[in-house]
Amino acid sequence: MGRLDGKVAIVTGAAKGIGASTSALLAAEGAAVVCSDIDADAGEKIADAIQNDGGRATFVAHDVTDEAAWERVVTAALEGFGQLDILVNNAGIAPTGEAIEDLTLESWHQVISIDLDSVFLGCKHAIRAMKTSGGGSIINISSIMGLIGQPRAAAYNAAKGGVRLLSKVAALECAEAGYGIRVNSIHPGFVDTPLVRKAVDDGVVSGQMGSANEAIEMLTMLHPIGRLGVPRDIANAILFLASEESAFMTGSELVVDGGYTAR
Ligand SMILES: NC(=O)c1ccc[n+]([C@@H]2O[C@H](COP(=O)([O-])OP(=O)(O)OC[C@H]3O[C@@H](n4cnc5c(N)ncnc54)[C@H](O)[C@@H]3O)[C@@H](O)[C@H]2O)c1
Repeated sequence: MGRLDGKVAIVTGAAKGIGASTSALLAAEGAAVVCSDIDADAGEKIADAIQNDGGRATFVAHDVTDEAAWERVVTAALEGFGQLDILVNNAGIAPTGEAIEDLTLESWHQVISIDLDSVFLGCKHAIRAMKTSGGGSIINISSIMGLIGQPRAAAYNAAKGGVRLLSKVAALECAEAGYGIRVNSIHPGFVDTPLVRKAVDDGVVSGQMGSANEAIEMLTMLHPIGRLGVPRDIANAILFLASEESAFMTGSELVVDGGYTAR
């Protein structure tokens, strides 16, 4: 028996990092997974790998800022697998590394659009679909940067803080309406994914200090548990929120950060 037998999930940003690990884990626990991503080549490979392992998955090309594309992804779940029970709003991009005084409005809008507007659109279309099939679980990937500030990450901080409160509003609206839909946010610390590696290489994370290896060491020291996260650490938390084991949790924020924010 899998913990998600009979469930149908959409995972955005499924081609890499946390989304790829989550797609594989949810499928291994019995869910049919609609993997969505803007990177079609890498996304197709993730869905193929799940199928090769005996799981159920399909890939849909999807820009999470595009409302019409959201309708296509939800339709793929409903028509391909019969229902929608789980949405993981995971797709996102990293901070640009500029101070507020240097940040262009265009750059601000790009991060807000991909990291926050997307979560609004996902919640909107998933609630519409889930309420007709008796409920579900929406898991929004925020960040510790949705809880604490970081210099040169204004748009990312604002987007991830927005995801935190948007999740609570969605949770309250769904509870009030009696839809049986739970909505929670997850707040990862630094996780070793292509997003973090690129941010390190670009000097975004470390503020241009030292080599990439030194930046990773510096980041590691900020996590009292003594290592960076790995995608499976976050996937495990997502699985818990997706499953009935978290049936009494809605509007909550699950911090998975190796102790980063405990100081
Ligand atoms: N890695 C970390 O340290 C960390 C920490 C906290 C929160 N997060 C959040 O976790 C989520 C996943 O991060 P990750 O580290 O796995 O990143 P990643 O870069 O490894 O993967 C992100 C995926 O999102 C996709 N994507 C980007 N823009 C998109 C768009 N417009 N439409 C659809 N897909 C798009 C990318 O193609 C990629 O496959 C993000 O929301 C990120 O902000 C990551």
